[in-house]
Amino acid sequence: MKISVIGSGYAGLVNAAGFAHIGNQVTCVDIDPKKIDQINNGISPIFEEGLEDILKDSLKKGNIKATTDIKTAIEQTDLTFIAVGTPSNEDGSINLKFIKTVSKDIGNILKNKDSYHLIIVKSTVVPGTTEDTVGTIIEQTSGKKRGRDFGLAMSPEFLREGKAMEDYLKPDRVVIGAHDKKSADILCELNKPLTGNIITTGIKTAEMIKYTSNAFLATKISFTNEIGNICKKLGIDVYDVIKGVGADFRISPYFLNAGCGFGGSCFPKDVKALIAKSRQLGYTPTLLESAITVNKNQPKKMIDLAKKHLGELKDKKITLLGLAFKPGTDDIREAPAITIIEDLIKAGAIVTVYDPEAQDNIKAIFKDKISYAQAKEEAIASSGTIMLLTEWDEFRDETLYEGKLIIDGRKTLNKKTQADYEGICW
Ligand code: UDX
Repeated sequence: MKISVIGSGYAGLVNAAGFAHIGNQVTCVDIDPKKIDQINNGISPIFEEGLEDILKDSLKKGNIKATTDIKTAIEQTDLTFIAVGTPSNEDGSINLKFIKTVSKDIGNILKNKDSYHLIIVKSTVVPGTTEDTVGTIIEQTSGKKRGRDFGLAMSPEFLREGKAMEDYLKPDRVVIGAHDKKSADILCELNKPLTGNIITTGIKTAEMIKYTSNAFLATKISFTNEIGNICKKLGIDVYDVIKGVGADFRISPYFLNAGCGFGGSCFPKDVKALIAKSRQLGYTPTLLESAITVNKNQPKKMIDLAKKHLGELKDKKITLLGLAFKPGTDDIREAPAITIIEDLIKAGAIVTVYDPEAQDNIKAIFKDKISYAQAKEEAIASSGTIMLLTEWDEFRDETLYEGKLIIDGRKTLNKKTQADYEGICW
């Protein structure tokens, strides 16, 4: 199929490369000419395992290209995925400015395109957005009618950063929310090579499936952190508890790793957007609000543990190992490391940090307020106290830390609490 993908961020680029890989003709569209150049030269603008190889291979086969020219891209394709960002407003609600601009652009281009075109929203949008905002804007600007002149659908992505390509190629399921049968049939055909488990539903339901998945996983983590905080007071290792609990198939052992909290570009943003939407509809989602509150408080536990051992933190040297919101990425969006650094600076501590990938991103925020080590050994040597905030494999060697106090926020080391080791929930 001939596909254009608008927005070459994580979701857009991984989907574009994936659709090209399974034999479609894909055009990536982005407003950033630097990104477009990189893609056309086989360089992935993001750090994502396997993506660059697939990109290079698809370029060689002539299955993918990138452009800033949205008009030609839409004119020369039959399907357009919208994969632009949906950031948060100050109050946590979803900001649809990019979605609206792109919808208007698409409508204006479709006005002069005679053939049928299918529009699919890939971006995470609150229920109702695809029909009420995207569909309506396209109809208004194009003068055409959904279901007759153009197709409309929403197909959420469930890609984990760092494993996005793998998740794309081997999905648990593909969810397709379609306005009409023709749109659903085209998307089923497109996704058939990826999985036998294609779930077709209405558009609003597809939008809600995405939010519910992320809200559930985020709540699961906050739940395990809450139990972990109780375990800590009782002198129990929450990981021993979870081993016994996760064996129940109704619960499953996944996403029950207690620690200093979830971060990333999806969980915090999506749960807050769902809360805002729910409140707007007159329902207060107490459980979801608690999931956010537990997560907000979790990094503070690291500071409390440091104080327990060191007393006042003023002029105390503390090293942070791991800054990314999880291993395998340089992404620091909503990473617990950010609030922990802020709190340590506020308390007057002397902070040194190290992360194999995310160092530069942290430097852009904190500049000369903290020190940046070139290697983990240098970082460890700088301070008597080490906080482990991202469970990179290279931090798992216990012999690195001789003579140091370790405060572990991720169960990076498999130790029980003792004089020189303190786990956040164990
Ligand atoms: C998530 C979803 O998993 C994915 O389906 C969705 O499309 C986008 O959001 P991602 O943000 O890449 O993916 O990361 P994920 O691996 O899910 O981890 C999110 C955060 O939760 C990380 O900060 C991680 O450290 C934390 N986490 C995860 C825990 O604290 N405990 C766990 O048991 C699992």
